[in-house]
Amino acid sequence: MQIKGSTILITGASSGIGAACAAAAARAGARVVLLARTQPALEQLATQIHATGGSAYVYPVDLTDAAAVDATVARILAELGPPDIVISNAGSGRWLFVEETSATEAAELIAMPYLAAFYLTRALLPAMLQRRRGYFLFVNSPAALVAWPGATGYTAARWALRGFAEALRADLHSTGLRVATAIPGKVSSSYFTNNPGTEARAPGLARLLPTLTPEQAAARMLRAIARNEQLVVFPPALKLLYLIHRFAPGPVRWLAVATGTRRPKAW
Ligand SMILES: NC(=O)c1ccc[n+]([C@@H]2O[C@H](COP(=O)([O-])OP(=O)(O)OC[C@H]3O[C@@H](n4cnc5c(N)ncnc54)[C@H](OP(=O)(O)O)[C@@H]3O)[C@@H](O)[C@H]2O)c1
Repeated sequence: MQIKGSTILITGASSGIGAACAAAAARAGARVVLLARTQPALEQLATQIHATGGSAYVYPVDLTDAAAVDATVARILAELGPPDIVISNAGSGRWLFVEETSATEAAELIAMPYLAAFYLTRALLPAMLQRRRGYFLFVNSPAALVAWPGATGYTAARWALRGFAEALRADLHSTGLRVATAIPGKVSSSYFTNNPGTEARAPGLARLLPTLTPEQAAARMLRAIARNEQLVVFPPALKLLYLIHRFAPGPVRWLAVATGTRRPKAW
């Protein structure tokens, strides 16, 4: 899909990877539609984009609220028309063992990112199907490829998101709409301050990978969209691990567990 001249809807655009994607897409000539809960941060980004001659529109919404998503999408369709590209990037979730996870937090882990992506796609799809073109990119985590200890609810939610993207691709066969997944390694965003305790739970295996800036992650994702890639796993060291895991899953699974976190108390 061409970035220049496209309307790109980006969730989680108030910080980190989503904000960097929006800024880069606007610089490349896209009209960007910014979604997240924090209106001042979205407004600030839109002001920066306008100052450099770009085009940005702000729609604050809690994406885990299905009715709010429906209402926001109805406004977007009426005011701007259907987007050409949708980047479902919003995400949160702490890495916890099952017994550390309250029932409320377990439900929140499923609500964001999986249900949020489902609600948004469901609301946008009829208008995008009518036009018979469009591109959905789902931003996921390495946890959607291989599990490590101490991130159980988070990992299950990421597999749900991965399954949703796969099933949606099958649903949209021959419709002109495309579906892709992006899996970045560690990115120096505010994710780990927004989700306390999480960084310390990363397996030692993850330390072999370089940390990317949100701008580097955004650049790779926009390149994936421009090239119509279906699955983009980056940086290259993570892609190598992914390829080894694909053909010989045992050793990578073992390393993720062996270098992973241990339970805080003895069992
Ligand atoms: N950072 C990493 O190392 C890394 C690695 C792999 C994948 N990822 C994935 O990349 C995506 C972006 O993360 P990031 O690193 O940029 O983290 P971040 O800076 O914490 O950004 C998360 C974004 O999601 C939005 N969000 C959270 N809950 C929301 C809700 N209920 N409704 C609407 N928006 C919501 C936040 O905005 P508001 O708070 O304003 O709503 C924020 O814009 C996530 O899906 C994350 O899992 C991150």
